[in-house]
Amino acid sequence: ATVEPFGVALPVPPVLRPVYVGGDADLYQLPVRAGTTEILPGVATPVLGFDGRFVGPTIRARRGRAVALQVTNQLGHPTNVHLHGGFVPPAHDGHPMDVIAPGATRSYAYPNLQQAATLWYHDHAHHMEAEHIYRGLHGFYLISDDAEQALGLPSGQYDVPILLRDALIGADGSLVFDPADADNRPTVLANGKPQPYLRVAARRYRFRLLNGSLHRIFRLRLDRGQLIQIGTDGGLLPAPVAVSEVKLTPGERAEVVIDFAGQPVGTRVVLEDTSGPVVGFDVVGTATDDSRLPDRLIPLPALPTATVTRDLALSFDPAKVAFTINGQTYDATRVDARVVNGTTEIWRVTNLDTRFNIDHDFHLHMIQFRLLDRDGVPPAPGEAGWKDTVHVPPGSTVRVQATFSGFTGRYVYHCHFPEHSSFGMMAQLEVVNRTA
Ligand code: C2O
Ligand code: CU
Repeated sequence: ATVEPFGVALPVPPVLRPVYVGGDADLYQLPVRAGTTEILPGVATPVLGFDGRFVGPTIRARRGRAVALQVTNQLGHPTNVHLHGGFVPPAHDGHPMDVIAPGATRSYAYPNLQQAATLWYHDHAHHMEAEHIYRGLHGFYLISDDAEQALGLPSGQYDVPILLRDALIGADGSLVFDPADADNRPTVLANGKPQPYLRVAARRYRFRLLNGSLHRIFRLRLDRGQLIQIGTDGGLLPAPVAVSEVKLTPGERAEVVIDFAGQPVGTRVVLEDTSGPVVGFDVVGTATDDSRLPDRLIPLPALPTATVTRDLALSFDPAKVAFTINGQTYDATRVDARVVNGTTEIWRVTNLDTRFNIDHDFHLHMIQFRLLDRDGVPPAPGEAGWKDTVHVPPGSTVRVQATFSGFTGRYVYHCHFPEHSSFGMMAQLEVVNRTA
């Protein structure tokens, strides 16, 4: 289905209101249910959604204040919730095997101990996560803190989360899910709408960009003006950096500032991907701007010395028609990496799929890591901040460094092309306390 670009407004997902505000925690209720949405004009598309919404409501959390999320499964099959990028104890992490039965309610407790960051939440029920995310079980979870707020970045209506993803929409309006044809999802959606416009004032905006696709890599540019990247998956960068392109593989986030102040009223600034326009920013007027973009944002701590190095090989196994890590598919009863709480490790992740030219990325639960290098080349500033997901192109090796301080127990790590992880490209990590 083809639509005229810029025919519909970019929706901003509503901020979820707590049902109870306690002394040090906010309680939210979030049913998971079927719903319908209008993706193509005049066509009803059945979706699954948190609160029935195709992009779930945004949860705005505050560092140091816990969130209790009470999730009721109103679907006919299991689901669960994973807070992607969240520093969360294992019992609340939405482990793939830890699901919510149909009709059941589950409470997740998120401590929000980490720095301000653009996180997201999505289904992680094993073998179903790809289809569930595709059908709409994705939403933003934004943590703020004092250090971030003191910077004076654009806020309120000038701070806009945008979930980017693609879809194949059938003639009847349904979302067609076919893992065997994952590159055939031609309709690019921003917050659930195809190539929408956003009316902006000629001033500074903060945009939080998330790739919520299963398989598409975005390479985002502006047709005029300048993209200034200010943040990565796990928080703000030490300093803003002017970039010509923002590349996002599935699961990755980038925060950018765009200043429309130099644009005459009537201009349309287009955020575009190699596939075409993604969002049109229509400069419709002026507005006062008391926001700031300081030269220094949030410092990155020096990297501690790593004491353990591990090697991970990502590869497709055509004989088994499976995606593997170190030759094995995911097995929840196996622990693939046992890590001592508090230890700093370097993980060397190699994508062996040069023969079929398959892209992968790498996502680790529980903690944010740092990218050391890709094929020996240090990261550009836009990838040098806190990360939980990194691109591993065919034939390349990335080295990431992580300090596993925090919770003990079992988590997963995997490729965040969910059709790969649900076909095996996932493994298990266990954080253990050092024994005497
Ligand atoms: Cu975004 Cu293991 O997930
Ligand atoms: Cu993959």
